[in-house]
Amino acid sequence: MPMHLPSCHWIIPRRVCVALIFATLLALFAACSPEPKGPTLTLPPLPWPSDALEPVISQQTIELHHGKHHAGYVAKANQLIDDSRFKGKSVEEILSATREKKKYKDLFNNTAQAWNHAFFWECLTPEGTARPTGALAQAINTEFGGWKAFRDEFIEASLSHFGSGWVWLVRDKETLRILTTANADTPVARGLTPLFTIDLWEHAYYLDVQNRRKAYVEGVFDGLAHWKAVEKRYGTGEL
Ligand SMILES: [Fe+2]
Repeated sequence: MPMHLPSCHWIIPRRVCVALIFATLLALFAACSPEPKGPTLTLPPLPWPSDALEPVISQQTIELHHGKHHAGYVAKANQLIDDSRFKGKSVEEILSATREKKKYKDLFNNTAQAWNHAFFWECLTPEGTARPTGALAQAINTEFGGWKAFRDEFIEASLSHFGSGWVWLVRDKETLRILTTANADTPVARGLTPLFTIDLWEHAYYLDVQNRRKAYVEGVFDGLAHWKAVEKRYGTGEL
């Protein structure tokens, strides 16, 4: 004769029974939901050997810049993100949500610096590509009145920027803009599309040219800028 097990509400009140089932389902759901794995940021390898940008940027500067400064920002940013409600969010989401928020000042600064440096390395090439062509060249002509005028404005913006920061060429909807940002600030957090940047922090050039920021900026702009990569970003919108 088959044995019938009593349903649980014979033993436990129905409300408790429902609560137990609900709690079990919640626990099962939590167990199945993947926890964000791994750090939010990683230190990308340099896209070229550390001595490849000489003589404009020395091997010593690159190794300190990438191995100490950039690595430090990545480590600190990951630590702060892990302890925040932003774990599992994309870097772009984190930057947009934390910019100009006093509570997240350190988190923003370190995350932005990690992003900016990873982008900066991709803007440089030891092969020094020729000036932009195609749609980007046309946009530069339209916006700035030609290559020389664009270069003059970019160098001037770099030199007149006070203190640490970054100089950028960005796409703002259908127009191009040159702008500088102070300290760690980044156009990514403002909904702009960065196309090219040069790091204006002294750690980027002081060992090589001391206080001659102009020599560094001109050397990078004329000899190391990866215009082919900039053209691609302009065409696709992908960073
Ligand atoms: Fe830097």
